[in-house]
Amino acid sequence: MRIGLLTGGGDCPGLNAAIRAVVKRGTSELGCSIVGFNNGWQGVIDGDAKPLTRDDVSGILVHGGTMLGTARCHPHKVEGGMEAVKDTFENEKLDGFICIGGDGTLKAAGKVSQALGVPVIGIPKTIDNDVVGTDAAIGFDTAVSVATEAIDRLHSTAESHNRVMVVELMGRHSGWIAVTAGIAGGADIILAPEEPFDIDVIAKRIKHRHRYKNFSIVAVAEGAVPAEGSRWEGKATLDAKGNPIAGSIGHEVTKAIEAATGFSTRLTVLGYVQRGGVPTAADRLLGTRMGVAAIDGIVAGETHKFTAQQGEKVVLEPFETMMGKTKWVPEELLAAARGL
Ligand code: F6P
Repeated sequence: MRIGLLTGGGDCPGLNAAIRAVVKRGTSELGCSIVGFNNGWQGVIDGDAKPLTRDDVSGILVHGGTMLGTARCHPHKVEGGMEAVKDTFENEKLDGFICIGGDGTLKAAGKVSQALGVPVIGIPKTIDNDVVGTDAAIGFDTAVSVATEAIDRLHSTAESHNRVMVVELMGRHSGWIAVTAGIAGGADIILAPEEPFDIDVIAKRIKHRHRYKNFSIVAVAEGAVPAEGSRWEGKATLDAKGNPIAGSIGHEVTKAIEAATGFSTRLTVLGYVQRGGVPTAADRLLGTRMGVAAIDGIVAGETHKFTAQQGEKVVLEPFETMMGKTKWVPEELLAAARGL
């Protein structure tokens, strides 16, 4: 079989582990040819393809990013996009696609397999960890490790300067990184989109804490929002697509805390550091397991599904499980974050 392979959406550590697993297992064990497309679905639309061999993927396991490049491109949203994908599929004599991506890229993968009737298997990756149907997505574990280390490091400087330190973490829709790294790093206040906040309650908690401690750490997700009806309604500035601009809510929260408490308050926007660098062992393992499951699945005739970690197993789930949905941080984790 000839299988097209692409990575779409924001990059993250662990993508190369999945690419390597698809290529090694596909070419050596299953007799497949793997055709890599540069820059996600855009590369498929443009026919920007290259053969991938064992040699090409040798040594990439430990590298962050993606050797194929990536783009936020969805063929169903581009004029003539679906026809171009079909042309490339035929010109390259492909038997299917393996598409590694977050919610947007996987939704596009589902639409491609529906509209064109070609075999497609997806692999979920996103540091945001918001893909429904899988316990974990590639990249999340590394992002949480990086964010936790950042929170650890902020403690000593916060304490030395008697400051409130606000750290803004990625997560526009769901607050997985802020909540999990916030808990792991011992943040005192954690703000996630799942639980709109009241700045007066936060200021009160910080003032109370500063009766016996001289510093506080506040972890804020990019998509955190003030509660309706709460006194302060300063919101994140949105970009043209309606997404919060990085640093915006962090800046607003920092200003509001300083004004309400009188304590010196500083902001750190961790940004793309969370998406860069060497993947953790867990992300290398997840990428490898999902790569193997994807190539095994497509060779076995599976289609219109994505690999999903469910408990101890990696299984295949229909795209419908995740299309148009968001995996929210569960109440149990929010309660843990709230009660510390
Ligand atoms: O890939 C997910 C993510 O890292 C989000 O957490 C973040 O809000 C967004 O991507 C940033 O996107 P871009 O790479 O387009 O700036």
